[in-house]
Amino acid sequence: MHTQVGIIGAGPAGLLLSHLLHRHGIESVVLETRGRDQIESTIRAGVLEQNTTDLLIEAGVGERMKAEGAVHHGFELAFEGKRRRIDLTALTGHSITVYAQHEVLKDLVAARIAANGSVFFNVSNTSISGIETDAPSIRFTHGGVEHTLHCDFVIGCDGSQGVSRASIPSARRRDYECVFPFGWFGILVEAPPTSDELIYARHERGFALVSTRSPSVQRMYFQCDPKDSTENWSDDRIWSELHARVDSVDGATVTEGRIFQKNIVGMRSYISSTMQHGRLYLAGDAAHIVPPTGAKGLNLAVSDIRILAKALQAFYSEDRTDLLDAYTDTALKRIWRAEHFSYWMTRLMHRLDGVSAFEQRLQVAELEHVTTSHAAALAMAENYVGTSAV
Ligand code: PHB
Repeated sequence: MHTQVGIIGAGPAGLLLSHLLHRHGIESVVLETRGRDQIESTIRAGVLEQNTTDLLIEAGVGERMKAEGAVHHGFELAFEGKRRRIDLTALTGHSITVYAQHEVLKDLVAARIAANGSVFFNVSNTSISGIETDAPSIRFTHGGVEHTLHCDFVIGCDGSQGVSRASIPSARRRDYECVFPFGWFGILVEAPPTSDELIYARHERGFALVSTRSPSVQRMYFQCDPKDSTENWSDDRIWSELHARVDSVDGATVTEGRIFQKNIVGMRSYISSTMQHGRLYLAGDAAHIVPPTGAKGLNLAVSDIRILAKALQAFYSEDRTDLLDAYTDTALKRIWRAEHFSYWMTRLMHRLDGVSAFEQRLQVAELEHVTTSHAAALAMAENYVGTSAV
C-alpha cells in the first residue's frame, strides 16, 4: 500500500489533517486502533475557540456545529460566594462555541467517508520504520491481515500513549512535565442548564466547573483525589459537593438532574519539545497535554494541524521544506503560551494542598483582580479565546 501522508490516529488532529490535505489534492491514509463507534461516542472536551470554529467552517465541516453548537460570549468566575462575569466578546471581540469533541469527530469522519478517504479503524500492531529516510513506512494489522503502508511522511496523532512519540529515539527527545496532585470528577446530567454560561468556581473544598453539552444535557466537574473511585460518590454526595462549591450568596444554585455518567481524570501538563524527527511529525496529544482548566487541548491539536497542513501543502505544491523544518518552532510558541495559561488557571482555581493560608488568600486577591481590572480581565480573556500574542 502506498500513500503520500500516513496518519496514525483518527482523533480530531488526524482526521482534520486528512481532510485538509484532501482539499489540497494530497493523499493520506488514517490508521486508528479504536472502532468508529468508540471514537464517535467517547465524551471529551467541549469548548472550541473561534480559531478552531473558523478553520472547521473554512474547511467545509462546520455546518452542524453552526446549527447545534452554542456560542458563548463570556463565562463566570465564582469565588467567596459571589459570581463575576468575564465578558469575552466585549473584551476581545471573540467568542467560544460549546460543541462536543465527539460531534466534531462525527463531522470529520462523515467528510472523509463522503470523499472516499481511507480511514482504517480497529487496527493493531502498528509500528513505524524508516523515519530517518525519505521513504518511511507503517506496519499494521487490519482484519487479521498484516499490511505495510509506504509513505512520504508519517504524522503521529495517536495521543500520549500512542506508538508515534515512542518511535523517536529517546536520546533525541526533550520532555517537560508537571503532574498535579488532583483530578476532576466529571458527570453528565440530564437537566436544563444551571446558567447561560460556564461557571468556574474556586472554593476551599476545591474547584468546580459547570459546563453544558446541550439544552437537556449538562457537564459538571469537581476537583477530587485522582485515586478516588466513582463508586465512593453517591448522587446525593455529588450534589451536596457541587452545591457547596458553586451556589452563590444571591441564591443562584446548581440545577440537579439524573446523573448518567461518572468519571475521574488525572491532571497534568506535558510537552515533548521534539515534535519532529526525520519524516515523523507529532501533533495534538501525542506532543503535548494540558490540564483541562483552560479548555485548550482540542484547540491546540487543531492549531498544530493548521501549521502542518500548510507546511505539507508547500512541500507538495512548491517543493518547499522551510515550513516543515520550522514546524516545531512555530507550533511550540503557541503550545507554551497555552501551557502557561492552563497551568496559571489551574493554580488560580484549585485547592492547592500544602500551600500556606497566605497563598490561598493570594488566589482570592488574584480573582478579585481579574474580575475588576480591565487589563487583567483582558489578559485572561485573550488567552481563553485564543487570541493572545502568538
Ligand atoms: C467541558 O465542557 O468538558 C469543559 C469545559 C470547559 C473546560 C473544560 C472542560 O475548561
